[in-house]
Amino acid sequence: MTKVLIATEKPFSNQAVSEVKQVFNAAGYALEMLEKYEDKAALIDAVKGVDALIIRSDKIDADVIDAADELKIVVRAGAGYDNVDLSAATAKEVTVMNTPGQNSNAVAELAFGMLVYLNRNGFNGTAGTELRGKKLGIHAYGYVGRIVASIARGFGMEVFAFDPFVDDVLIKNDGVTCLGSAEELYETCQFISLHIPANDQTRGSINEKMLMSMPDGATLVNTARKEVIDEEGLLKVMENRNDFRYLSDIAPDCKDDFIDKYEGRYFFTPKKMGAQTAEANLNAGVAAAKQIVGFIEEGDTTFKVN
Ligand code: 3PG
Repeated sequence: MTKVLIATEKPFSNQAVSEVKQVFNAAGYALEMLEKYEDKAALIDAVKGVDALIIRSDKIDADVIDAADELKIVVRAGAGYDNVDLSAATAKEVTVMNTPGQNSNAVAELAFGMLVYLNRNGFNGTAGTELRGKKLGIHAYGYVGRIVASIARGFGMEVFAFDPFVDDVLIKNDGVTCLGSAEELYETCQFISLHIPANDQTRGSINEKMLMSMPDGATLVNTARKEVIDEEGLLKVMENRNDFRYLSDIAPDCKDDFIDKYEGRYFFTPKKMGAQTAEANLNAGVAAAKQIVGFIEEGDTTFKVN
């Protein structure tokens, strides 16, 4: 019997788990759960003998892949798969997939939740600022970026984007002004919403020069990955520009500097919260389950990333 493990340090909602169970019941698969586990040893123990694995931001490194002696497929229920060691998976002929687009709306809504919160000074009773009429730059125009653009138009913002991997026509058709470089985006927009993945090309790529070039009242909202920010550069910007504010879905490594010195100019979620909605859990969890069944029963490799 095919065995599937859902290993989620940050669990899915009960409804998502129950609908995922239905998909596997119908396929005749056995489902095991490992939720809120505390260490890698628990994960290593749980992956033994399973054919398929569903994860979220859970770290799947070479040790985990080695321990998973029957593993054929890992589905990251979500967009970013920087938490999976693709080389180790490929070396053991394990297929890795993600579920693109399934949790994007939740992430886009969180970006605006954080923007409004900080622009209203954490609702502390003082006069804040509005988003209407301001320039928003969307750095990377994938699934989340597109939804951010549509919400931004509802707020009455002027929307710009840069994405070298997306056709300009697609961006322009959304009523968004397409810019030719990341540098131009940062120089143009007071607000930047970041949606680039974390990989060898992007890690540490959002640097001091780009952030210093942003117009007055600059706010960077990062619902992508903390690793794409050059934190040393970010701290210099926080020091040299007292109008600069940083919002991030999960705190940077240099969080303590923010706490010590920059009260009122930042907000960080305590846990990665972008995709943590009932709807996103359900969409991504069920998509992951169906992708596993499609792969095992029919060899469907749509959304394979390795
Ligand atoms: C993603 O890449 O899909 C998001 O960062 C969500 O991550 P999570 O599943 O850990 O909430």
